[in-house]
Amino acid sequence: MIYYFSGTGNSRYAAQKLALLTGDKAVNIASIYNGTVKSVVGKSDVTGFVFPVYFSGLPEMVKRFASNPQIRENLGEYVFCVITCGAETAAADKMLSKTLGRSVDLSISLRMPDNYVIAYEPSDSREALSRLAAADSKLEKVAQAINQQGTYFKTHFKKSAVTFFMYPFYGVFRTTRFYKADSKCTGCGLCAGVCPDKAIEIKNGRPVWINKKCQHCTACINRCPEQAIQFGPFTKNRGRYYIMNIKKQGE
Ligand SMILES: Cc1cc2nc3c(=O)[nH]c(=O)nc-3n(C[C@H](O)[C@H](O)[C@H](O)COP(=O)(O)O)c2cc1C
Ligand code: SF4
Ligand code: SF4
Repeated sequence: MIYYFSGTGNSRYAAQKLALLTGDKAVNIASIYNGTVKSVVGKSDVTGFVFPVYFSGLPEMVKRFASNPQIRENLGEYVFCVITCGAETAAADKMLSKTLGRSVDLSISLRMPDNYVIAYEPSDSREALSRLAAADSKLEKVAQAINQQGTYFKTHFKKSAVTFFMYPFYGVFRTTRFYKADSKCTGCGLCAGVCPDKAIEIKNGRPVWINKKCQHCTACINRCPEQAIQFGPFTKNRGRYYIMNIKKQGE
């Protein structure tokens, strides 16, 4: 079983590709929480986790899922993780191991397009397509390693230090207070549809953030076809990245 979490599609893409190459099944963690996949937790020989690194650590939903006793009890003999990132994953794998209560056998960092539009310009289509092509080749090798139950886990003090200092900022930025749809919003509802946390509702033709905190995955900001969603003043003049938009261009 390969469990994945994804905001803008990179980790979904990686998980589905790995499932295809290893003959396994990819299951969306958000669907489990939102009740659209029933009784997915079954014992299998291999358990995989695929998700993006956030502030050098785990997305809240992944942390919650990995600490669930039912998940911990039903882990396979062999556990792997593939963590997608824009630059580096620091000690997110160590955090996953700690949360699961056992070490991960194989830990892979997979560089993919950058989506963190709140802090910097996300990958444009040229960069995105080139990173996706490199990720495709790496995923073939990762699938071989999984099929042979290969092991790899490298940790050192510097990685842990980065996670230790960066991860607390995630908790701060998860507030939904700064999300707003500007006048370009047409009320299409796509933002609510892509939110893995079901944190958005469309009321009177406009999105409303109904929870105080969310996953901070940026899917709503990046998916909006009008680029109407802003996070404070940070996103107004920046581009957007969402894998399906890029893939369509690359076809
Ligand atoms: C809240 C947030 C924090 C992020 N933090 C990091 C980070 O610490 N290091 C990094 O290399 N990339 C970081 N990124 C980039 C994503 O990990 C990367 O683009 C990932 O592939 C997105 O996956 P997804 O499309 O499945 O959501 C961050 C993105 C978001 C939204
Ligand atoms: S996706 Fe954009 S245009 Fe559509 S409802 Fe949301 S904010 Fe408005
Ligand atoms: S509200 Fe936006 S940023 Fe927050 S979890 Fe939903 S899609 Fe992601």
